[in-house]
Amino acid sequence: MSDTRRRKLPPAVLALFLQSLAVSLAVITQMLSQRLSALTFALLCGVLAALFSHLLKMDRWWLPIQLLFVPALLLTLSFSLAPTFFLVAFLVMLVVYWSTFRSQVPLYLSSEKVWQALAGRLPAEPFTFVDLGSGIGGVLTYLARTNPHGHYHGVEAAPLPFLWSWLRVRFAASHNCSVHWGSLWECDLSRYDVVFAYLSPVPMADLWHKARQEMRPGTLFISNTFAVPDHPPHETIATEDLHHSQLYLWRM
Ligand SMILES: C[S@@+](CC[C@H](N)C(=O)[O-])C[C@H]1O[C@@H](n2cnc3c(N)ncnc32)[C@H](O)[C@@H]1O
Repeated sequence: MSDTRRRKLPPAVLALFLQSLAVSLAVITQMLSQRLSALTFALLCGVLAALFSHLLKMDRWWLPIQLLFVPALLLTLSFSLAPTFFLVAFLVMLVVYWSTFRSQVPLYLSSEKVWQALAGRLPAEPFTFVDLGSGIGGVLTYLARTNPHGHYHGVEAAPLPFLWSWLRVRFAASHNCSVHWGSLWECDLSRYDVVFAYLSPVPMADLWHKARQEMRPGTLFISNTFAVPDHPPHETIATEDLHHSQLYLWRM
């Protein structure tokens, strides 16, 4: 793990800390004035949390979340839902998103147009391919079918997507395809001819550093949508999917 990834406080943890600070100040205000209604209390928490987040220069999209968090809690409590509802919702989110609060790489899927563009760009001779953060295994099982002379491997950290992809690979009987549960940062990239990633802007600089250190000369590094800061790709492939996704390619 690189130093930069270790040093930074995850924004979700910072947001939680600022919410706690806002709630503490609202509690003190309530103790002093004894006059705040539940709604005023919740709005005060939200305004303070959003203000602190603005002052600490959190990304702008955090502000409405911070503003509405405690009011939304209040509204939800008014429905008198059973506590097990919250437990189940939490457990489902946990197994789907796992360490997203730290990695800042949630689960979303490459489009079929991206799969097709990838299939058209893979080597003609036998090769090894890895999908770093392989989600539910769509990229792997598609390519294993369209380009069967390749060997495909996926690494996925979140338990439910991993289990789903494992079953998918097993039931698709893809003999040239495998997935394992683990962190992409532990993956030895020197074993692959093509490394594919669809992550987020956050890990790209560190991932580039890892790729440069481990990938063999002449091998291919491909990122869906997210570029590497300060390192223009050698080739870009535009796709015509809903988001006009671009594939960025670097020959190492
Ligand atoms: C945007 S999704 C991409 C899924 C798939 N590769 C695709 O293109 O459809 C990113 C995936 O990376 C996984 N992920 C995030 N950080 C990871 C890590 N450090 N190690 C392994 N997987 C990770 C997430 O759980 C998520 O499933």
